[in-house]
Amino acid sequence: MSKFLIEIKKLDKQFENNNLTVKVLKDVNLNLESGKVIALIGPSGSGKSTFLHLLALLDKPTKGKISILGNSTSNLSENKKNQIIRDCVSIIFQNNNLLSDFTALENVAIPLMIRDKSYNFSIKKAEKFLKEVNLTHRLNHFPSELSGGEQQRVAIARSLISETKIILADEPTGNLDYENSQEVFSYFLKLKEKNKIVLIATHNRELAKKADYTLSLSNGNIKRIND
Ligand SMILES: Nc1ncnc2c1ncn2[C@@H]1O[C@H](COP(=O)(O)OP(=O)(O)OP(=O)(O)O)[C@@H](O)[C@H]1O
Ligand SMILES: [Mg+2]
Repeated sequence: MSKFLIEIKKLDKQFENNNLTVKVLKDVNLNLESGKVIALIGPSGSGKSTFLHLLALLDKPTKGKISILGNSTSNLSENKKNQIIRDCVSIIFQNNNLLSDFTALENVAIPLMIRDKSYNFSIKKAEKFLKEVNLTHRLNHFPSELSGGEQQRVAIARSLISETKIILADEPTGNLDYENSQEVFSYFLKLKEKNKIVLIATHNRELAKKADYTLSLSNGNIKRIND
């Protein structure tokens, strides 16, 4: 298998709305290897979330190819696509997407239950991951009973619990105070020792500097800007 967990070739993405075409990504070519924390920066509206959604297979490219762990993702059956998502990719959404009828603990445990793990095992492990993001005191709170930053940390724990090779994080520290952002970021840095890729879209330049390198997205192009 290729040493790259993610291979992107000639990727184009455009949206059509009311006869208006928005070209977001233009001929992006990129290979991402494991064991790296990568920052993705770019102005608001430049396409960072669009790019992460394509990598998470939640949306389809207009043109071009994305391979995930050696699997080409064009023309996949729904089953195979869901299997790749389940086994390989986790995403932390910009707006959290927590399930409002479930507690913090249950929200974090659900990805394991979906993977056929038992309720008790899933809940135990969820507790451990919520501890990592300093939320032991909020296990049984519903999302509406949590602050924005707490919700964000639940979403982070939820994305980490399934221990996928690829973690896509869309502004994961946007609602966090200084200390929690630093802690979450150091946790991401630890994950690269497990040979994962952590790709983090962020407007926070200070945190971006701590990544192994930065990808800069502007005018539809993605460039690697430092090592
Ligand atoms: N479903 C859609 N239909 C039409 N246009 C869209 C759609 N989704 C995104 N866009 C457009 O694509 C562009 C990129 O949006 P995207 O959300 O990827 O930006 P971003 O870099 O994540 O911005 P931010 O930093 O504000 O989160 C924007 O101009 C947006 O209006
Ligand atoms: Mg975004």
